[in-house]
Amino acid sequence: MKTAVIYYSMSGNCEYTAKKIAALSDADLIRLEPEKEFPTSGFRKFFWGGKSAIMGDMPKLKPYVFEAEKYDRIIFGFPVWAGNPAPPVRTFIHENIEGIRGKKYAAFVCYSGGGADKALVKLKKQLSVETLDAELILIDPQDKPDPKNDEAIKAFREKLI
Ligand SMILES: Cc1cc2nc3c(=O)[nH]c(=O)nc-3n(C[C@H](O)[C@H](O)[C@H](O)COP(=O)(O)O)c2cc1C
Repeated sequence: MKTAVIYYSMSGNCEYTAKKIAALSDADLIRLEPEKEFPTSGFRKFFWGGKSAIMGDMPKLKPYVFEAEKYDRIIFGFPVWAGNPAPPVRTFIHENIEGIRGKKYAAFVCYSGGGADKALVKLKKQLSVETLDAELILIDPQDKPDPKNDEAIKAFREKLI
């Protein structure tokens, strides 16, 4: 079973998680980056990012390499922004939905304490699926290290074997 981990990370928590997930298996890591990065500090960070997420924006992404036919499973990873998936993941799904339809899906989200379930519901809606094979929700795992996160990541991977 060949897996791609498709993720966006503004401040490193999702990248940290994506790398840990990939290290537990033979998965390819594909990091999404918007052509125009969102503001990364101060009020503008939350205002523009939150607004973009609520509006369902699909920002243009920097070129990435993804050959859908190589993969049986896609793991999506993203920070929760205003109760939504961070917009670059929306762009990716929109651009690749034909190629990924029917594959196995799982997802992990990083957040600070509110809206993760809601964001996962939105992800499933965009993918037109009722359920994912596995879901992992972590609170700022890089910024707030906790051994329980490693256990949760391991359990998430084990569900996918
Ligand atoms: C624009 C924006 C909106 C956010 N909205 C939420 C939110 O609704 N709920 C929450 O718990 N955390 C929210 N956060 C915090 C991030 O989801 C959280 O810190 C996450 O771990 C960041 O992942 P990253 O380091 O990979 O970017 C928000 C962060 C940003 C920048």
